[in-house]
Amino acid sequence: MTQVSEQELEDYYKSFNGNREISWRDKLGDDLNWALSFDQYTEAETTKHVHRLHPYKGKFIPQLVEYFIDDHIDDFKKGVCFQKGDIILDPFCGSGTTLVQSNEIGIHAIGIDISRFNSLIGNVKVHKHDLFDIQKELHRITITLKNFLAERKTIDFENLLLDKLNEFNNKYFPVPDYKYKVKRGEINQDIYGKEKEQEFLPTYRRLIKEYNINLEQKKTDTFLDKWYIPPIRDEIELVFTEVKKIENTNTKKVVSVILSRTIRSCRATTHADLATLKEPITETYYCSKHGKVCKPLFSILKWWDSYSKDTLKRLAYFDRLRTNTYQQCLTGDSRTINIFQELKKKNFKFAELAEKQKIKGIFSSPPYVGLIDYHEQHAYAYDLFGFERRDELEIGPLFKGKGKEARETYVLGISNVLNNCKKFMVKDYDVFLVANDRNNLYPIIAEKAGMKIVHQYKRPVLNRTEKDKGAYSEIIFHLKSKPE
Ligand SMILES: C[S@@+](CC[C@H](N)C(=O)[O-])C[C@H]1O[C@@H](n2cnc3c(N)ncnc32)[C@H](O)[C@@H]1O
Repeated sequence: MTQVSEQELEDYYKSFNGNREISWRDKLGDDLNWALSFDQYTEAETTKHVHRLHPYKGKFIPQLVEYFIDDHIDDFKKGVCFQKGDIILDPFCGSGTTLVQSNEIGIHAIGIDISRFNSLIGNVKVHKHDLFDIQKELHRITITLKNFLAERKTIDFENLLLDKLNEFNNKYFPVPDYKYKVKRGEINQDIYGKEKEQEFLPTYRRLIKEYNINLEQKKTDTFLDKWYIPPIRDEIELVFTEVKKIENTNTKKVVSVILSRTIRSCRATTHADLATLKEPITETYYCSKHGKVCKPLFSILKWWDSYSKDTLKRLAYFDRLRTNTYQQCLTGDSRTINIFQELKKKNFKFAELAEKQKIKGIFSSPPYVGLIDYHEQHAYAYDLFGFERRDELEIGPLFKGKGKEARETYVLGISNVLNNCKKFMVKDYDVFLVANDRNNLYPIIAEKAGMKIVHQYKRPVLNRTEKDKGAYSEIIFHLKSKPE
């Protein structure tokens, strides 16, 4: 065992983080607000409790929301504009981060998102659930799934395949020697990996035949058709049929989110391509991420089981923190939605309060120009649940690119959202928008919305994905009403 003194380790990390701050300032400018990097938080903290109920590309971290809306954060006291009991709006609610943190702090919050699936995730996170009922239903469904699997040979096949793979990988990809040699350039993993991949394939194909595993995808019309092998498809259909039998609507929503999280993890893709799907795979492959031959999944049971337990734990944890406040995400286009009218349909009491008190301000991160297709990132869920997609109403989607026309429509889109939201806010509102404004569009957006930018906070964005670790910053714009 390698042993390192705690003091040395501490010194090392201090110097590492200190140097990082200096080099980032060099690259991004001295106006960088390092306190907003939140580099002291672990991943477990930035994905605490319900924040990790479902993957979602493009969410902000809860600490950022806390910093701006919690008046107990000392060094920001001078500027905090919200108090317990106020109502905050997030017109681009996404996976519901603002809603969750508002609840924790004691602030009411309304969210809006164009994507029905995103509102589902947000609402599942904040609504109070009957955990016993969820547990009962999960247990029932898991038993049904296990009984179904007992009649099939999938699990036996997968166990045998794993044994064979372990044997093979231990021999040809020993830990840690193999990765060490790759790092030192003694092995070219592209050549060696491909060679070993081919070497294992006959064993794999023999087992597939022996156990009569059906890998043939007859159609590729829908996302589900294309990205799921038949044994997995059968299990998804089975579980979905059981989900539909759940009587308690809230429980049904939670379990649907668990199913969606499960099927997301079971797409027929390599480990390296989970974030950006390339082509479906149905055979064992050399995995550069893990430095060995990996296999596709043949059953959803493992993930279903693990996410079921994880979800219950996270919901129970959040229950201990929740305050007695209202949070609701509405599905709609923030440019045109009548917020109070739609809220009335979902939560009458909250709508009454909102009409009386009005919204104090906004905390939100709008989509950026041409970066993400928000419906498409959860295509599997839209396919499975049959939710209506409204891709064409997304502001700044990837599919519309980053060209001049896209930027102009974006400016119009975001300013229209602000103009619409103003109708429901107090006169002296505060708007905070987190944006990656490479094209300097926000001054124009503010102008078009009759607002002025009163402050800008430049935040370093750390802990980005493996592939993209470059220095990068975003701005939190603080806007207020511009005198006529
Ligand atoms: C950057 S994400 C917000 C992420 C969020 N802050 C979180 O932590 O999960 C932007 C969101 O805006 C939504 N959106 C795009 N166009 C919209 C529109 N016209 N009306 C409402 N929401 C829209 C997208 O569906 C997406 O979920």
